[in-house]
Amino acid sequence: MTDWATLDAVRETALGCTACPLAETRTQVVFGVGDPHADLMFVGEGPGAEEDRQGIPFVGRAGQLLTRLIDGIGLTRDDVYIANVVKCRPPGNRDPLPVEIETCRPYLEAQVGFVAPIVVVTLGNFATKLLLDTKTGITKLRGQELPFGDALLVPTLHPAAVLRGGGVTLAQTRADFVVVKRALARGRRP
Ligand code: URA
Ligand code: SF4
Repeated sequence: MTDWATLDAVRETALGCTACPLAETRTQVVFGVGDPHADLMFVGEGPGAEEDRQGIPFVGRAGQLLTRLIDGIGLTRDDVYIANVVKCRPPGNRDPLPVEIETCRPYLEAQVGFVAPIVVVTLGNFATKLLLDTKTGITKLRGQELPFGDALLVPTLHPAAVLRGGGVTLAQTRADFVVVKRALARGRRP
């Protein structure tokens, strides 16, 4: 199922996906939104209650903070592409399980491939560990520009963690977004 011709084809498959147990408890699949050729792509963890209701990633409280952070570097949600590690809501907002992450992974990989961003921002531990194939935690990695194929990857805190963490974490995250803005301004790696 991993050789799709277009991003729309990936979406079609995902919208009907029952490959992991999250299919049984979701309201709908939250595939991804934004510019399918964006220079900047965000990867979160998984849909929460509001995302499960609306079918759109990052529309709850954490999402509103993400939207403000995007705004803060002179972009809008329409300029970027936003997706999650798992496309279906884990019940009660529990962490996604390893089997769920692995089963859902081809969709995210296809999204990264078709969007082909210049910069990928991983939001929190799950996206960072999956895409970098690392066990190093987000507090160590945040704000760094790391090689990711012919793109750059900048890990930052998950906006839900920023909401819990308050001023210091918000300042750190704003600083990470400045790193992102500079990397975008430099453009694609030669
Ligand atoms: N948290 C996430 O990781 N993703 C969403 O889409 C919403 C909240
Ligand atoms: Fe399919 Fe991913 Fe949803 Fe699991 S989380 S059912 S793998 S789309």
